[in-house]
Amino acid sequence: MNVHDSEKVVGTLVSEGYRQVETVEEADLVLYNTCSIRDKAEQKVFNRLNDYKKYQKQGKKFGVLGCVAQQEGEKIFERAPWVSLVAGSASYRNLPGMLKQLEEAPDRSAAFESPAIDSIESHPSNTTKGGAPSVGTKAAKSGAASGKNPVSLVRITGLDDRETDECFETEFTARTNPHRGYITIIEGCDKFCSYCVVPYTRGKERSRTSDSVLVEARQMADLGYTEIQLLGQNVNSYKDPAGKPGGKKSFAELLAAVGEIPGIHRVRFTTSHPRDFGRDIIDAIDAVPTLCDHVHLPVQSGSTRMLDAMQRLYNREQYLERISWMKAAKRPISITTDTIVGFPGETESDFAETLSLLDEVGFDAVFAFKYSPRPNTPSISLEDAIPDAEKVRRLEILMSKQRTIQTLSYKRYIGTQCEAMVEGRNEARAQWMGRTSHNKTLNFTASVDPKVGSYVPVIVTSSFPNSLLGELVV
Ligand code: 5AD
Ligand code: SF4
Repeated sequence: MNVHDSEKVVGTLVSEGYRQVETVEEADLVLYNTCSIRDKAEQKVFNRLNDYKKYQKQGKKFGVLGCVAQQEGEKIFERAPWVSLVAGSASYRNLPGMLKQLEEAPDRSAAFESPAIDSIESHPSNTTKGGAPSVGTKAAKSGAASGKNPVSLVRITGLDDRETDECFETEFTARTNPHRGYITIIEGCDKFCSYCVVPYTRGKERSRTSDSVLVEARQMADLGYTEIQLLGQNVNSYKDPAGKPGGKKSFAELLAAVGEIPGIHRVRFTTSHPRDFGRDIIDAIDAVPTLCDHVHLPVQSGSTRMLDAMQRLYNREQYLERISWMKAAKRPISITTDTIVGFPGETESDFAETLSLLDEVGFDAVFAFKYSPRPNTPSISLEDAIPDAEKVRRLEILMSKQRTIQTLSYKRYIGTQCEAMVEGRNEARAQWMGRTSHNKTLNFTASVDPKVGSYVPVIVTSSFPNSLLGELVV
């Protein structure tokens, strides 16, 4: 999600006449996109911003984007006064206007002698869709009050847009991979899981129209993209805002429509929420061969008691019911998940229920995280009583169990033929890197060089817990 946000921001900037450079040294403007989903994200961001401090005298301008920007807001200006722009993801559509203000701002290199503060805020309510945002200015003459010569320090914020109904729709996206591309279909999240910062940083749920998603997907197909990944914090709560009667598409219908675009060979989607995950998604996968046979369905815990505490809005049985739909699909569907260990109050027996769920489902991959309290979330008020060492112990047990499960399940592929999308070449290993429709890494040797981005048949010859190895079929 964040990677694609950066692609859209870069594309927008390039369309405004900016040029992307490789290093901070070469840049006049440094925009730092941040994520705050777990751990000590804020500290990492401030450490990085401190590294930038030495460049302030060169007149470089700095902006902080994304979740940490939204969460820390104007505190960033206090702790890193060389930063001029702070914008959460819900404000990205106003970026061209904010950047114009930044461009017009006085050179900051002189400003640190005696700062007065001009705070420039974008006003989303005055923004017309597709038009330039109207920008209001308020000045606080702190430098003047201190008796020093006031020099303007410009502080531009985009922090008040989380209630917006608008998406960051841009025709300019600087996609880095020429074969596989992301399309955001829904922004924000209304689920408010008790541990999660996303609803507070990315704002409320807002879907793009299916028409605009399909236009973007067709353009990508015309440009030669063959794989599309539909993105959202919770793609299953996609609600098509299209006005045409009878023209609205459900998520499953949109998925199928993208899969039917000529030239599109694979369609993926992430992330799903079990509460909203409908059987119609499996029906679509059954009906449309280009829809990948992979579902990422984060469970977080196998204990209904913990799921309640996490405000996940489903119980263990309901989760397993969705798994049973997938297992009844016409094609074997690979299932992956996220889990959190050490949520406040998680007992040994709750944890055992997560372990037993791993056995019951037989996931193809599990992304496991230690619970970390996040600012503004309901669970921050719960005592984080499980010591870190105990969280580490549970994480290791869980990962070791999953490794055993995957070692066995990946072995079953040996001798089978899979289609791999060629992702590149690993010269050191003299292997090609590929990915199956199941989203498994399938490296392979080849007597004839395949083209990167092509789809090739590969016979699996051996397996590891996280990848497969094979030989190109010629
Ligand atoms: N602590 C630990 N893991 C978290 N995740 C989200 N918030 C937290 C948190 N506070 C994990 C969840 C989610 C994934 C993207 O990150 O498992 O599915
Ligand atoms: Fe966070 Fe829950 Fe929304 Fe996922 S569904 S982004 S975990 S609040």
